[in-house]
Amino acid sequence: MPYRDEGWKTATEGGGSVRCIAISNQKGGSAKTTTTVNLAAALAEAGRRVLVLDLDPQGSSSSWLGAAAAPRGAFELLSDGEAVAGLVQPTGFDRLVLIAATTALNHAERALAREIGAETVLRRRLAQLPGDWDYLLIDTPPTLGMLTLNALAAAGELLAPVEAHVMALAGVAQLIETKRMVRERLNPALRLAGILACRVDGRTRHCLDVVASMRQTFGPEMYATTIRENVRLAEAPSFQMPITRYDAQSTGATDYRALADEVMAQEGRQAG
Ligand SMILES: Nc1ncnc2c1ncn2[C@@H]1O[C@H](COP(=O)(O)OP(=O)(O)OP(=O)(O)O)[C@@H](O)[C@H]1O
Ligand SMILES: [Mg+2]
Repeated sequence: MPYRDEGWKTATEGGGSVRCIAISNQKGGSAKTTTTVNLAAALAEAGRRVLVLDLDPQGSSSSWLGAAAAPRGAFELLSDGEAVAGLVQPTGFDRLVLIAATTALNHAERALAREIGAETVLRRRLAQLPGDWDYLLIDTPPTLGMLTLNALAAAGELLAPVEAHVMALAGVAQLIETKRMVRERLNPALRLAGILACRVDGRTRHCLDVVASMRQTFGPEMYATTIRENVRLAEAPSFQMPITRYDAQSTGATDYRALADEVMAQEGRQAG
């Protein structure tokens, strides 16, 4: 199945394009936000232009990137009438910009429920994104509501972070089923970019067994990179810095750079 529009990318206004990846897993605390922020930063560090869209009313990605007080953002993106360009704000980091979650996003689920074609509002609005980015990473909430459905309907790809714990594995089956339903009903072009094992603690047998079992089950659908448990990743949000800046030598920074390399390398491969 070829990627929508031009190969890997989704067309935006004025002839631009973007590779749009929803970071999603309905299970709470599965490292969606950690992956969104730090993959974005590692891609930007590698010279790519990255837009982060925070679709989670918790606003964790936005505050991590230092934008907690933004007046407008993702809610306005989901409501017609405001130019998309005005919603994109800079972060303190080169090549990394943000459409922030603001408190209004708490009302989005209800507001969208009243609309016709509610699940595809974001897809229509993203076509109005000005300019050209290499990546649009969408952080999603841990529920399969309108916000997550909008992300999955708009994205070309789904990247699913999974905590390397046996309790998290049931959630992956649910995730694959969600992807199947979204493809069938909303977005036939949606593909799995990859499943990412996170919080891998190499000192525990259990963790390594879980990763091995995931590899056996999902094979090439899993990224070769795994993200190790690293306390620096948990500390970084308090300092409003991605790991690549907060502790550039940490294992967290190393792992997210390796993931960025792997994500970039996917473009060189045959879409299939
Ligand atoms: N590799 C890691 N090492 C250590 N801690 C981690 C790692 N990845 C994530 N965490 C921690 O796990 C917790 C959950 O991570 P995160 O907030 O990214 O998950 P989430 O899926 O976005 O959660 P939610 O479903 O609430 O949006 C956080 O406290 C985070 O700091
Ligand atoms: Mg989150």
